Amino acid sequence: DLGDFDTYMLKEIFEQPQSLENCLRGRIDDDAASAKFGGLNVDVQDLRHVDRIVLTACGTSWHAALVGEYLIEEFARIPVEVEYASEFRYRNPPMTDRTMTFAITQSGETADTLAALRESRRKGHATMAICNVVGSTIAREADGGIYLHAGPEIGVASTKAFTSQVTSMMLLALYLGRMRHLSFPAGQRLIKQMRQLPQLVEKTLACNEAVAKIATKYFDRNNFLYLGRLYNFPVALEGALKLKEISYIHAEGYPAAEMKHGPIALVDEVTPSVFVVPHGTMYPKVMSNLEEVKARKGPVIAIACEGDKEISAAADDVIFVPDVEEYLQPIVTSIPLQLLAYHIAILRGCNVDRPRNLAKSVTVE
Ligand code: F6R
Repeated sequence: DLGDFDTYMLKEIFEQPQSLENCLRGRIDDDAASAKFGGLNVDVQDLRHVDRIVLTACGTSWHAALVGEYLIEEFARIPVEVEYASEFRYRNPPMTDRTMTFAITQSGETADTLAALRESRRKGHATMAICNVVGSTIAREADGGIYLHAGPEIGVASTKAFTSQVTSMMLLALYLGRMRHLSFPAGQRLIKQMRQLPQLVEKTLACNEAVAKIATKYFDRNNFLYLGRLYNFPVALEGALKLKEISYIHAEGYPAAEMKHGPIALVDEVTPSVFVVPHGTMYPKVMSNLEEVKARKGPVIAIACEGDKEISAAADDVIFVPDVEEYLQPIVTSIPLQLLAYHIAILRGCNVDRPRNLAKSVTVE
């Protein structure tokens, strides 16, 4: 049922306050300043001994895994490896006997992710699923896991599943962190921030009209660059993927500082660069990358924080998002990029819910 929306993709983008609420429900343990999960099925003692985590996934879920890596390493101080499932299943990387694997998948049916899960289990590693579809093959075969509770995602391009995957891994990072170095007050602080996510997403969605207007300016372009750093580097990759898959425009995402090592050669007067440049430790650095693009006459669309006074003079177009802690930024900065891809695709007459050559779940290798 599409309700007031013309497409499932737009409906699902606008469902994100609710899907995040559902993802958080029942999973916050205020007494312990930690998280709790019904279905991990692992002994606390065993979890305490995990010394390495492998996150394996494909596509958008792989981008969510990259955010997960930063979250788990920052809050739990456990080394994390992110592996494309298609590589991991054949690569045979060395794993310690205390390595735990998480397969991240919306559908729970992706062939490569399923094979990666089976390979990890065959080697005797505890192997979990972070999955949306209840009772899917991966959910059934995993030793345990976390359901996203995002509700059915019908649009082929993944949107609400991405933000729920990131939120699930935030909860996981909190939980593993509280078994290790993270103090009670630090846990409380994280919880307080996370509780605000649905509301922050609601506020972020107010950018929709501004994004639609910006799309009219750029929808005829053939190439886009997406740039961001730290927590917003995976967001840049995800923004580029969204645009590619539904509008068929060539787009590439990079960590902003990599620009100067090659991609800057692509900058010209027609190629837009989308800079994800919210406030934070990297702001001045990303701003100077942005200025390098402007100096070469490249058009710049910036995703920046409300209250940023410098950005309007530096960029051609700005989409404002709420100013949040750096580790929460992927949730708010990915939303305008979902909307940008959406509006550009619509202006180009594309079928956003059923893009060419793509299937909702990739059950072949
Ligand atoms: C992108 C997209 C794909 C999926 C990928 C993995 O919008 O939908 O890149 O993310 O095929 O799918 P799941 O998460 O179902 O394993």
